[in-house]
Amino acid sequence: MLILKKSDIASSEITPKETYMNRRAFMTGAAAAGMAAMAGERAMRLAEPGGVEAAETLATVKSPLSTPGLTLTPLEDITHYNNFYEFGVNKGDPAEHAGTLRTRPWTIQVEGLVKQPKTFDIDALLKLRPMEERVYRFRCVEAWSMVIPWAGYSLSEFISACDPLPSAKFVQFDSLADRKQELLPWSAGISWPYQEGLRMDEAMHPLTLLTFGLYGEVLPNQDGAPVRVVVPWKYGFKSAKSIVKVKFVKSQPSTTWNDMAPQEYGFYSNVNPNVDHPRWSQKRERVIGAPIWKQLQPTLMFNGYEDQVASLYAGMDLKKNY
Ligand code: MTE
Repeated sequence: MLILKKSDIASSEITPKETYMNRRAFMTGAAAAGMAAMAGERAMRLAEPGGVEAAETLATVKSPLSTPGLTLTPLEDITHYNNFYEFGVNKGDPAEHAGTLRTRPWTIQVEGLVKQPKTFDIDALLKLRPMEERVYRFRCVEAWSMVIPWAGYSLSEFISACDPLPSAKFVQFDSLADRKQELLPWSAGISWPYQEGLRMDEAMHPLTLLTFGLYGEVLPNQDGAPVRVVVPWKYGFKSAKSIVKVKFVKSQPSTTWNDMAPQEYGFYSNVNPNVDHPRWSQKRERVIGAPIWKQLQPTLMFNGYEDQVASLYAGMDLKKNY
């Protein structure tokens, strides 16, 4: 189903999830006349350049791994304040340009230290496990944060289906790099494809989410459609978007930001208020979309997931392994 680009919808319609869900309920029960009016409005929006993206509802089950008690970031901010350098280096660029990304057909190629290389089709992946809604804190290395209701299932479920060999100690993710669909701007300074990686135990941790959606719908293109990773205790750049390849390897793989500026972006990149970035403090963060008096908050160790993940790093010097 084709629906509207989120930028075409007033933020008042799409901000908190309750409003969003009520809107859906309203739409389900709308009278024929109302539906016809909406269809007309939609047709007008579809006629606008770049005004379409594939989107559909994802049925999710509530997850015990969801973080309770958090205020969700408005959808408008989640979809208009992005880092997705394939579509430009400014925060508004992905919303403006990612309409050219085609999310079907889409496959993830699995290679490296596996029993047998495999290719997974996105539609099969969507059905591999029940889709869970998980609200996570999301902390960018640039000292801003959001709270996002993601939809997906643990990456470990996918990894099990990949049959990695015991010799696989790390996993590397490649994002799509296709000039026909993406700008891949030279100004980003990135040697494409965008790559990320995790140690195997991090990748297998139940909190690490293979992510297909947010706010109950498939991922908007600018947020990494049709499939990305989310690692809630790490800085946001560890969460590769629009993944097309997963490779199991023996040693620490190359990763985009670590290759570009290793002194600034470590391989681990765990959220840590005690280890500053060389150019700014990591003690606090700006909460995107929050009222001005709530915008600055202290950053939490492992982004608040310390109880669940600290044991992964027992005995490691986190100042050296930043
Ligand atoms: N993945 C790809 N392929 N390209 C990118 O530029 N940026 C990373 C990460 N994943 C990036 C990426 C960074 S720096 C961040 S903070 C998050 O995506 C941003 O995710 P969001 O835009 O959905 O908030």
